[in-house]
Amino acid sequence: MTKNATVHTGGKLYVLGEYAILYPGQKAILAYIPIYMTAKISQHSTFKIYSDMYGDSVSLSSDKRYRLIQETIQTFFDFFEMDSHTIPPFFLQITGKMEKNGKKFGIGSSGSVTVLTLKALASFYEIELSKDLLFKLSAYTLLKLGDNGSMGDIACISHEQFVFYQSFDRNKVKSWQNKESIQETIARDWHYKISVIEPHLKGIFMAGWTKVPAISKEMINQVYANITEEFLVNTNNLVDKCFSAMKTNNQEALKSIISSFADMLSQLHPNIVTQPLRRLIEISNDNHAVAKSSGAGGGDCGIAFAFSPSDFNEIKIKWQQEEIELLYTESWI
Ligand code: PMV
Ligand code: MG
Repeated sequence: MTKNATVHTGGKLYVLGEYAILYPGQKAILAYIPIYMTAKISQHSTFKIYSDMYGDSVSLSSDKRYRLIQETIQTFFDFFEMDSHTIPPFFLQITGKMEKNGKKFGIGSSGSVTVLTLKALASFYEIELSKDLLFKLSAYTLLKLGDNGSMGDIACISHEQFVFYQSFDRNKVKSWQNKESIQETIARDWHYKISVIEPHLKGIFMAGWTKVPAISKEMINQVYANITEEFLVNTNNLVDKCFSAMKTNNQEALKSIISSFADMLSQLHPNIVTQPLRRLIEISNDNHAVAKSSGAGGGDCGIAFAFSPSDFNEIKIKWQQEEIELLYTESWI
C-alpha cells in the first residue's frame, strides 16, 4: 500500500558545544529552528525527484546534484529490503531552500533534506519510523557520502526540539558500514545519546542571521588543529551546566556559561567570530542578554537568550540597525 503525503523538516542551531562535538563522546546542545523544508510525495508511473534547489527533475539514475536525495532513497530501500523494480514508484517534490535572496541561513539544510526524504518515503510506503531510526538512517547516509560532521544537526532535526546530544565514534560506524549489512550496522549500539530538553527558562531564545554565508567544512579545516584536550574537557563541563541551568531557570548561570563558551570560541580561531557576530554578541550583552556565534561561525547565525520583552525589543531593533535579521524567536516568558 502507498499513501500520498506531505511532510516537513526544520533546521537547527548550536546553542553550545560546537567544534568539540566533532570528537566522540563530546556533548552539545542544539535548538530546533522551525523554518521548514517540505516534501510532497505521490504515486507516479516512474520514479521522479524534483528539488527547487535545481528546478528540474531526475529519475533514480545517479545525478551529481541529486546525490544526497538519491543516496537517502537508496539507504531506505536497502534497509527495508525494497526492490525499486517491483515497488510502486513515486514523485518526490522537495521545496523550501532555507535561504533568502540566494543567501543560505546556515541552519542545516543538507541534514534536513536527508531527514525529510526518509520521512517522505516512510509516509508513502506506510512504514513507521521512530525518531531514533530516523537519526540512524540519516547518519548512515551522510557517513556513506563522506560527510564528516558530528551529526548533531540531524540529532536535533530528527527530534524537532531542543536536544542534548552526545556524539558517537564515526570512524567505528564507518568501518562497520564497510564490512557488514546495513541492517547489522543499524542494529548495533553506536553509543550516542540524544535527550530532548524542555527548557524551564523564563527567557526568550533569539536566532540572529548575519546574512553572510559560511561553509562549515572550510571552517572546520581551518579550526580543527586548534582543538585541545582542555577545550574538550571545558566544553563538556559547560554543556552539563547549561543543561541544568536551562531546566532550573538559573539565568545567571546560563549567562555565565554561554558567555564563557562565546569567549572560548573566539579564542579557538580568529575567523569564527566575525565582525557582525561580534556586534550581535555585544548588543545582546549591552541589554542584559547573553549571546554567542552558533555552529562553525565565520558568518551564518548567532544565538542569544534575553530575559525580558523590553530587552528583547531593544536587541531586535539594534540588530536590525547592524543588518542582523531576527530569524527565529521562542519565548517562555
Ligand atoms: O555551522 P554549522 O551549523 O554547520 O555547525 C557546524 C558545527 C561543527 O561542530 C563545527 C561541525 C559539526 O558537524 O558539528
Ligand atoms: Mg554555519
